[in-house]
Amino acid sequence: MARLRRATQKELEAAVTALRNGDLVAFPTETVYGLGANARDPAALRRIFEVKGRPADHPLILHLDSARFLSRWVAEVPAAAEKLAAAFWPGPLTLVMRRSEDASDVLTGGQDTVAIRIPSHPMAQQLLTAFGGGIAAPSANRYGKVSPTRPEHVREELGDAVAIIMDGGECTIGVESTIVSLGGEKPRLLRPGSITQAQIEAVIGPIEVGADATAPRVPGSSAQHYSPSTAVAIVPSTLLESRIDTLLRDGRRVAVLAQRPPRKAQQGVTWINVGRRLDVYQRDLYANLRSLDKAGADQILVEEVPTKPEWAAVLDRLARCAGNPR
Ligand code: TXA
Ligand code: MG
Repeated sequence: MARLRRATQKELEAAVTALRNGDLVAFPTETVYGLGANARDPAALRRIFEVKGRPADHPLILHLDSARFLSRWVAEVPAAAEKLAAAFWPGPLTLVMRRSEDASDVLTGGQDTVAIRIPSHPMAQQLLTAFGGGIAAPSANRYGKVSPTRPEHVREELGDAVAIIMDGGECTIGVESTIVSLGGEKPRLLRPGSITQAQIEAVIGPIEVGADATAPRVPGSSAQHYSPSTAVAIVPSTLLESRIDTLLRDGRRVAVLAQRPPRKAQQGVTWINVGRRLDVYQRDLYANLRSLDKAGADQILVEEVPTKPEWAAVLDRLARCAGNPR
């Protein structure tokens, strides 16, 4: 499939009309597909929670086409936000800041902060500019499930509940944006993404990591988030084949996500060899988990990935899939 498809004028008009009518529009971003609604339409925002099956106190991310109208949505733009915006926007970074009156309770889950992201995907940019306002969007999957990185993932999972699914091809980053909170005492990394802690710190200095005790519950912070239906276990490379043998002996079928080919041929095993590259691993992670989930296996085994800082987003998502967040 072609990557980074742009929308036709007709597609754009239909999507903008749907948003204005209070309908939901799934659209591509460089990270994952979003389930979008007019950020100023509380009824449309409530639809998002309904369609996703998501608890109402989980805040949404507000998407804008540029930082032009940022000050409408936030109480003040901290200096750290200016620096991070200059370095990483448009791109896979979400900034949490103190909200203004314009950011409604439905959008923010009743909190005094709002999360803002300016995506770089050309179709997301086209849509945001044509709409001319903010679009609130979580990932376009059911609550707790794997995020969609292709339009067909959205169609399979949400289908008719979404008025329009814009086809922008495969997402190039593949994991959700890095979230940095600037709404508290100190900057804090709330969710690892493809932009690393080191990259953030190079711009604004040292930051805290993880949710603090007073922080709201973030969906990505619950165990068993980003999960396929099949049970997932993470296994060191050296133990992979023996673990498979044990499962096969018990009559179980196995699906494997690994960075190398199998050391021996085994019947009843579906094996995806992703290779060693981080960008490829990350980009294809959710699509691979989805296809392994469909392989009819009783167990998904994921070969351990390198415990290096650049792999933080992958490590985080895999740990959650396996139900034991780091
Ligand atoms: O890459 C992404 O960020 C994608 C695309 C569509 O932009 N969106 C996404 O949205 O991953 P969602 O809803 O699946 O995850 C949003 C995360 C949640 O963990 C949410 O709790 C957190 O952002 N969040 C939103 N507003 C927040 C706030 N005011 N304070 C703290 N966390 C917030
Ligand atoms: Mg999500």
